Amino acid sequence: MTAAATSLLDAYHIKGSGLDVDNPATGTLLATVKDYSLDEISDCIAAATTAMPAWAKRTAKDRAGVLQRWYGLIMQHQEDLAQLITAECGKPLPEARGEVAYGASFVEWFAEEGKRAYGEVIPTHNPRARIVVTKQPVGVVSAITPWNFPVAMITRKAAPALAAGCPMIVKPAEATPLSALAIEALAYEAGIPEGVFKVVTSCDAAASGKLLTTHPDIRKISFTGSTAVGKILMRQAADTIKRASMELGGNAPFIVFDDADLDAAIDGAMASKYRNAGQTCVCANRFYVQEGIYDAFIEKFAEKVASLNVGNGADDDTDVGPLINPVALKKVSDLVDGAVDAGALAIVGGAPSELGGNYYTPTVLADTTPDMEISNAEIFGPVAPVFRFKGEDDVIEMANNTPYGLAAYFYARDLGRVWRVAEALEYGMVGVNEGILSTEVAPFGGVKQSGIGREGSRHGLDEYLEIKYMLMGGL
Ligand code: SIN
Repeated sequence: MTAAATSLLDAYHIKGSGLDVDNPATGTLLATVKDYSLDEISDCIAAATTAMPAWAKRTAKDRAGVLQRWYGLIMQHQEDLAQLITAECGKPLPEARGEVAYGASFVEWFAEEGKRAYGEVIPTHNPRARIVVTKQPVGVVSAITPWNFPVAMITRKAAPALAAGCPMIVKPAEATPLSALAIEALAYEAGIPEGVFKVVTSCDAAASGKLLTTHPDIRKISFTGSTAVGKILMRQAADTIKRASMELGGNAPFIVFDDADLDAAIDGAMASKYRNAGQTCVCANRFYVQEGIYDAFIEKFAEKVASLNVGNGADDDTDVGPLINPVALKKVSDLVDGAVDAGALAIVGGAPSELGGNYYTPTVLADTTPDMEISNAEIFGPVAPVFRFKGEDDVIEMANNTPYGLAAYFYARDLGRVWRVAEALEYGMVGVNEGILSTEVAPFGGVKQSGIGREGSRHGLDEYLEIKYMLMGGL
């Protein structure tokens, strides 16, 4: 680990009891960080409420300058942050470096975009009045973020909030508070006032989450995590009618039609399925391959998957790191065992890795069918169930037959088919002949039970702005 990352670990490590952070690759304790009490979190909400007017009054250009400095510092510390991410979340170092750049890109993007929170003047209905529409910050925002992108899921929320003039209190996942605390330290170094951005680490996700979704001074909650938890948070936020952005679970179909470029489809499948050991909410979850290309796809895909190196993300040659914890390992294992018992064929993998610990062998399952539990569950592991299909209508029906609607992918070259399928898929994001679609410049988010709202792009800023209509009368 870099000297700076090690000294950050030392700086956050407290004596006595607190939130223990383990390395999922080795099971060893990395550090124990502060466990904020509910009273202390309430104090942070009060501090954010006090800090709000001055932050909101600063010009957008002024806030942009501070955010640009934060962006610069994050990139300057890319390696230190990547080391922390790999240590606490397990993803291979090259992916962790990529995550830092991805996370920083939101800060840079919204530093610019904050300057363009334009209002409008609407042609009047009354000659003695003018209609003016402005945009104002929503107010104090709370964010609850996941362990699979411990930096990027914070900056994707905090950057638009801060650019819009809203203070934000972030509760990171219990498993990955270290990179969140490092991001916070860099925010202060950049000049973001303490009341305006605060990371609260807590052992009690349910109680701290409840406070952050019910406190009357919080005007909005932004959450990334499972649909089940999102529903609880929305219910809690309902009493005080808070605004909510919810980036929830997915069950992404990855469709390969007979006319696809097979090699491109395999590359897309590898990137979409196996990054972060399959632990992203946009990872391909169900592979549908048309019957004419099915055998060729399975053969080439299996060959590539079998060549993946499983190991500690800190090692140079690792392609697939550990799962986050033993509960995740058991869930993936049970899903694969259930599918195999029901008739699926494990062409590659199909069991926990010989390395032991939280490692699962990258797996390809052939002959999976829609009635198997694996086709309805968000796998969140390095497992690709492959289904055979006949025609376009069948596959669209199967792909849409889920309560989720986050990301979908398909490979085809017929132009008419490309448009028909892209429009028919009930998903917030569709990758056409591409297996990775995340970028700060495009709107990320889902439909159905995959969420509400969009992150990134110009739409991401609107999530933190209220529209105010002023009728300027008596003219
Ligand atoms: C997520 O898994 O929640 C985010 C994935 C991404 O931004 O690509």
